[in-house]
Amino acid sequence: MKFLRFVMLFMILLTLVACQKEDYVPNVPTDESLPEMTLEELAFYDGKQGRPAYIAVQGWIYDVSGSSLWINGEHNGYSAGQDLTAIILSQSPHGLSTLSRVPIVAKLVVE
Ligand code: HEM
Repeated sequence: MKFLRFVMLFMILLTLVACQKEDYVPNVPTDESLPEMTLEELAFYDGKQGRPAYIAVQGWIYDVSGSSLWINGEHNGYSAGQDLTAIILSQSPHGLSTLSRVPIVAKLVVE
């Protein structure tokens, strides 16, 4: 009986976790002077040879240079200096949530 109650409680908890929606909101600086950057310019910021490591997701450019998980602009097989929107949504286990830990430094412009 106790075991059954435990199983039911576990199932309810599991359902609650599964129903949680991702409610990530980009922490965009209020400063109006946020620079614009094209994909071509972004390619320079690949984290290699001392260059900063920037990644673009959903139109915002994040600086991951300070992250110990992005050494030399590499993270689990993916490289900085490009738009990783589709990858973070489809391949990463964490989704957009981890982006709240890294600063937005520019806005991506499509030419
Ligand atoms: C298969 C692909 C990936 C795997 C297995 C992976 C795994 C992880 C893990 C285990 C962490 C640390 C745990 C956590 O914070 O939840 C992390 C952090 C992070 N990931 Fe990923 N990730 C993947 C792809 C990506 C992609 C494509 C991006 C960017 C577009 C990304 C951006 C980040 C960021 C910004 C952090 C936080 C870094 C920090 O806190 O210093 N990840 N990732």
